[in-house]
Amino acid sequence: MIKKNNLYYPSEEIKKDAHINSEETYKEGEENPVAFWEKAANDVIWREKWDESFSHTPPYFKWFLGGKINITESFLDVHKESDKTAIIFCPNSPEEEERKISYRELYREVNRFANALKKMGVGKGDPVGIYLPMIPEMVFALLACARIGAMHTVVFSAFSPSALKVRLQDTQAKVLITTDGYNRAAEVIDLKKNVDEGIKETSIEKVILVKRGGNEINFTEKDVWWHDIVEGESDDCPAEMMDSEDPLFILYTSGSTGKPKGVLHTCGGYTVQAKATGKWIFDLKEDDVFWSTADAGWITGHTYTIYSPLLNGATTVIFEGVPNWPEKDRFAEIIEKHKVTIFYTAPTAIRLFKMQIGEIERSLESLRILGSVGEPIDEDAWEWYYREIGKGKCPVVDTWWQTETGGILISSLPGVGPFKPTFTGRTLPGLKFDIYNAEGKSVSANEEGDLVILPPFSPGMLRGVYKNDEKYRKTYFSEFGENIYYTSDTAYRDEEGLIRIVGRADDVIKVAGHRLSTGEMENVVAKNESVAECAVVGIKDDIRGEVPIVFAVIVGNKKAEEVTEEIKKVLMDDIGPIAMVKSIYIVEDLPKTRSGKIMRRIMKKLFTGEELGDLSTLANPESVELLKNVIKRDI
Ligand code: WTA
Repeated sequence: MIKKNNLYYPSEEIKKDAHINSEETYKEGEENPVAFWEKAANDVIWREKWDESFSHTPPYFKWFLGGKINITESFLDVHKESDKTAIIFCPNSPEEEERKISYRELYREVNRFANALKKMGVGKGDPVGIYLPMIPEMVFALLACARIGAMHTVVFSAFSPSALKVRLQDTQAKVLITTDGYNRAAEVIDLKKNVDEGIKETSIEKVILVKRGGNEINFTEKDVWWHDIVEGESDDCPAEMMDSEDPLFILYTSGSTGKPKGVLHTCGGYTVQAKATGKWIFDLKEDDVFWSTADAGWITGHTYTIYSPLLNGATTVIFEGVPNWPEKDRFAEIIEKHKVTIFYTAPTAIRLFKMQIGEIERSLESLRILGSVGEPIDEDAWEWYYREIGKGKCPVVDTWWQTETGGILISSLPGVGPFKPTFTGRTLPGLKFDIYNAEGKSVSANEEGDLVILPPFSPGMLRGVYKNDEKYRKTYFSEFGENIYYTSDTAYRDEEGLIRIVGRADDVIKVAGHRLSTGEMENVVAKNESVAECAVVGIKDDIRGEVPIVFAVIVGNKKAEEVTEEIKKVLMDDIGPIAMVKSIYIVEDLPKTRSGKIMRRIMKKLFTGEELGDLSTLANPESVELLKNVIKRDI
């Protein structure tokens, strides 16, 4: 790359072969966004073309109305005779043989399982739960649902039984696809045990088990083995024809307080966007080996570990294990061995590699593009990624998006640039973003405000919150009216128009790139009878970006240590290991306004060393001193 001032531009060599390498594309997108996306839509397979490209009845919008499509046709049917590798599966243990699955085999595996699902009575529009680690069946299961028009709803395999239950109760899925167990680093995870607990009080009638862990399980009358039900099934299963606006999947995500929301994505727009963004941002070509380290339990795993690379006819790497086990540079070993050309991960992983390995001793020659996602990347991590992993030749695409947007919407493009460390970059062509002040007016350069998206939005953005329209309207289309999508992110633009994300404006925190709600965690902690009041806030962490800490006021006779242990346990039980808190402080009082609102902002500032501001408006200013004393030992 070429550096000018503090901006990086792609070299002529990178530009030469890139799908997008000029300002022309941006101009086209600006002149007529709808026509621009229509062009992108012609790049995927439709059974019947749409009659209306975009319709908007605020706060609802639709794309490619009347079009008939099935996302799987654009890669399964197109490449069904191809022996090219679609998936490289890297198991947790390096001792176990890796598996390469060709497009031909993928077609067969997906269809056989799709036929088995149909036989079980699963059909178009039915929700199907998937609770699996990153094994090939995760991909087969997702695609089989898409093939028959059932909505997949993946629950991250590290979520607890209660988290699984809440999601299954909301979708009312009758079928759950899972496994007996699996290994993660040196640990055996008994996933079936979680399932037995998690499906209680849900509508689950059948549990399909992939044999993976080989651990002993309690096999019940609801259980069937994956290998048994696919036995004898046909290799062909006709793709169910879906209306462009029919649901493709639901994925639960944390929002402000309360229960997680089921974000709903539809068939046509999502397909178009998943293909186009992969092509533009990662410059995906058929000979690429793409490795997105994201688990399919998260949106990045859906769009960029699975759908986008397949839609672009590339090879995608799926990895069951952790990137620093058994050796600290396991991730580099995988890149070297499989000649990965595009690597996409979260800043947390980059910081971890930087700290644990420093200098990489393996050859990473094959890499041509690096990507970052999920949380802001700090300058140190960016530089290390760019120099040590990319050897100064790979563009670093810092990609901003959300579960709700379905695909990346902000990132400078590798063939155009510019790239600026800590800035996520330019908005994609064909989109209209702005940054607003509290009055809904655009802010000037370098001024912080609310990041918003204006019509016509993007084809792959959410169409609703499953069974909760009120939440859709309130969360996304009320802050600045029904015409404006509110992202909940605070951001600013520099003079060049490059966007920098400052952080969330709500109570969502990103822990190691994973999205958690402090409000949801507070609800869990408050269930403990000894807890009278509590507050959870996210504070900065050198590796994980942010980590949650808990303040609790307790009543009753239990000792503080005992309650602390109980709080840890309930968070683990109700959410899972990602909700591991850094510290729990048992305090006498929480700072509050006179109207009784807990001042989480002040608690956060105690850790950053920022000015606390005027405390005299608090109902109990003395509580702040008490907090300071309690946390002194940690900072
Ligand atoms: C944050 C993840 C800074 C942001 C794809 C957003 C980022 C939330 C970036 C969505 C980035 C995502 N730089 N912050 N490149 N990408 N975020 O739904 O706060 O898990 O609103 O989707 O992550 O998280 P989610």
